[in-house]
Amino acid sequence: MSCCIPIVDYSNKFLITSPKLIDLLCYPRFSTLDYVTKIKDLFSLNLRFAVLEGDTVLYNNNILGKGCEGLVLKVEDTKNEIMALKIKRTDSCRFSMKPEFDFYKLANMHNIGPKVHSCTVDFLLMEFLDGVSIENWFSNTKLDTYLIKSVVINILNQCFVLDKINLDHGQLNKLYNHIIISPDGLTCTIIDFESASTSRKVSNLTSAFQGLFFKGIIAKQINKFIDYENKKMECLELLKEYKRNNSRENFDSLMSLI
Ligand SMILES: Nc1ncnc2c1ncn2[C@@H]1O[C@H](COP(=O)(O)OP(=O)(O)O)[C@@H](O)[C@H]1O
Ligand SMILES: [Mg+2]
Repeated sequence: MSCCIPIVDYSNKFLITSPKLIDLLCYPRFSTLDYVTKIKDLFSLNLRFAVLEGDTVLYNNNILGKGCEGLVLKVEDTKNEIMALKIKRTDSCRFSMKPEFDFYKLANMHNIGPKVHSCTVDFLLMEFLDGVSIENWFSNTKLDTYLIKSVVINILNQCFVLDKINLDHGQLNKLYNHIIISPDGLTCTIIDFESASTSRKVSNLTSAFQGLFFKGIIAKQINKFIDYENKKMECLELLKEYKRNNSRENFDSLMSLI
C-alpha cells in the first residue's frame, strides 16, 4: 500500500505579488490602477513578503491591525528585516501618509512611537512592535501594583514629552487601542499619529490620565488594584492646573499622587 503524505503549505509568508494580498492591499475597494501603483511602491520600498499574522482577522487572513484609515501588515524586506506596513485604506479621506510619517518622525526624535523608516502616498513603513494593545494587556496580564505603576508612569512620561514638544496626538482619549505594550510590560509604545497636530492645544497627558484612572475598561482594571477614585477630586484639581500650565512642576505634582 502506498503511503501518501499530503503536501500542505502552512506558511503564512506570502510574496508581495501574491494574489492572497490583493484584497488587503486594496482594502476595501479594488481597482487595477491602485493595485499596480501599490505593487510598484512596494518594490521601491524593497519589500518582499507579507507575513499574515496578528490578532485582527480580515477576509480570513490574520493581520496586525485595522483602523479607520489604514490596515497594518507585518512585512519583510529584501534584507530579511521584519517591519510593519501601514496601508492607507482606499476609503480613507487622507490624501497621503506623509503627514503621519512627519508626526511620527518628530515623536521619534524624542524616542516616542515605533521608529518610522519611509513612506509613500499609500504606505508608511515602520518598526514592528511585538506586543498587544493596552486594553488586551490589562485584561490578560497577571497584574500587581508595581507593574501597573511602572506602566502608568512610563505612559504618562511619554505624554508629558509630547505635550512639551507641542505635538498633540489627538486620539489618546481612546487610549485602549493607541498604545502597544510588550508582553513583559517593559515597553509601552504610543501608535497612530494620523490625527496628530502641532498647531492644536496639546492634551496628551490629560487625555491619557482620564483613560488610565477615571474612564473606561483600563481604569476599571487599574482601580481594582489601586484606588485612585478616592483621589479623584485632588487629581482633577491638579489636572486643571496642569492644563493651564504644563510645567514640569505641575507634572511632578500629578505624578506624586501616583
Ligand atoms: N508598528 C506597529 N506594529 C505592530 N502593530 C501595529 C503597528 N502600528 C499599528 N499596529 C496595529 O494596527 C492597528 C491600526 O493601526 P493605526 O495606526 O491605529 O491605524 P488607523 O490610523 O487606521 O487607526 C493598531 O491598533 C495596532 O493594532
Ligand atoms: Mg487607530
